[in-house]
Amino acid sequence: MNALAKILARRIALQGPITIADYMAEALGHPKHGYYRVRNAFGADGDFITAPDISQMFGELIGLWCVEVWDRIGRPAPFNLVELGPGRGALMSDALRAAAVVPEFRDAAALHLVETSQRLRQVQRDALAQRDIGWRDVSWHNGFDQLPDGPCLIVANEFLDALPAHQFECTPQGWRERLVGLSKDGDSLQLALAPGPTPALSLSPTGAPAGLDPAGLGNDDIGAIREFQPTAITLTRAIADRIGQAGGAALIIDYGYDGGAGDTLQAVRKHAFHDVLQTPGEADLTVHVDFAALRHAIGSAAQSFGPIGQGEFLSELGIAVRAQMLMKSASPAQAKDIATAHHRLIDADEMGTLFKVFGVAPNGAAALPGFDQEVAP
Ligand SMILES: C[S@@+](CC[C@H](N)C(=O)[O-])C[C@H]1O[C@@H](n2cnc3c(N)ncnc32)[C@H](O)[C@@H]1O
Repeated sequence: MNALAKILARRIALQGPITIADYMAEALGHPKHGYYRVRNAFGADGDFITAPDISQMFGELIGLWCVEVWDRIGRPAPFNLVELGPGRGALMSDALRAAAVVPEFRDAAALHLVETSQRLRQVQRDALAQRDIGWRDVSWHNGFDQLPDGPCLIVANEFLDALPAHQFECTPQGWRERLVGLSKDGDSLQLALAPGPTPALSLSPTGAPAGLDPAGLGNDDIGAIREFQPTAITLTRAIADRIGQAGGAALIIDYGYDGGAGDTLQAVRKHAFHDVLQTPGEADLTVHVDFAALRHAIGSAAQSFGPIGQGEFLSELGIAVRAQMLMKSASPAQAKDIATAHHRLIDADEMGTLFKVFGVAPNGAAALPGFDQEVAP
């Protein structure tokens, strides 16, 4: 067992099994051993690659999306430009570089980053201060609720997948929560099933996705697994409340599904799947995001768009034209890289379908860019 596994094992020995949500929160956020506190997660020499690492086109198109939305809503000045979980800061750096085509946008933007890792805050500070971006006025926050008042443009790429998830299994006795306990010899962490109902099972029907509402719990086959991310639900509702009241828009991009998946908890280390319980804090731990649950959480607080595939969204925003422009001044080797990146971002067998884009805007607002073909539910 590594150091964090030993800490968790001691806690379980004293207090009993913990929820998967608790386990995720500790594995990713433990102050000393948590994954995002200590590991170099990103890029070819890390554990995984995100869309902004694949190509500058991703952040650039999102930057131009922000400029267009800002223009459509009447160019508020100032406004909050917000990113949740900015990682290495690549998305926001590329976005701000592209947004320089409209200097008034940059003048009006107050940049707010929601990031709990002090180490990554420094990486983000350095990325944004690079000479071709030159952005030094940044405010960091530990949570969305700490943002100042006012209209917001909010971007969250691969952020919600890291928020803690509960897992439930359908048993002959009814739904039971999956927990993390100890093996008989106490030498390893292992999955266990709660013997009776746990607090997470009794979440309110309005807060829970349809399949987990008490009334719907009997509808699955024995052995079926359902997941529920209460923090993602609360955050999405807070985003919708903020946008509904103060104006703006949000873009949530992540891998996920639109209702009805099973066990999606996964650990990734060095670009390969890894045992979820073996080395907490040393592998990235995520679940696929349930966009149907996010839509349900928004209710009538705001209007939601999508989710649509990332491929469709980026194509609507003009990624093909952007790729061609970049190729004009590229060497043959660079042009090949641009074509490969374009393919990875949009192809259905790569990130084009599994990764989805979900938009939030005030009730009554016109469709957001990229969702123009979508009919709001
Ligand atoms: C997978 S990374 C996101 C990568 C980045 N958005 C990108 O596109 O490359 C998750 C990010 O969220 C941050 N994070 C994770 N859990 C968090 C939490 N509960 N509150 C704030 N930030 C969190 C991590 O430190 C990291 O910056």
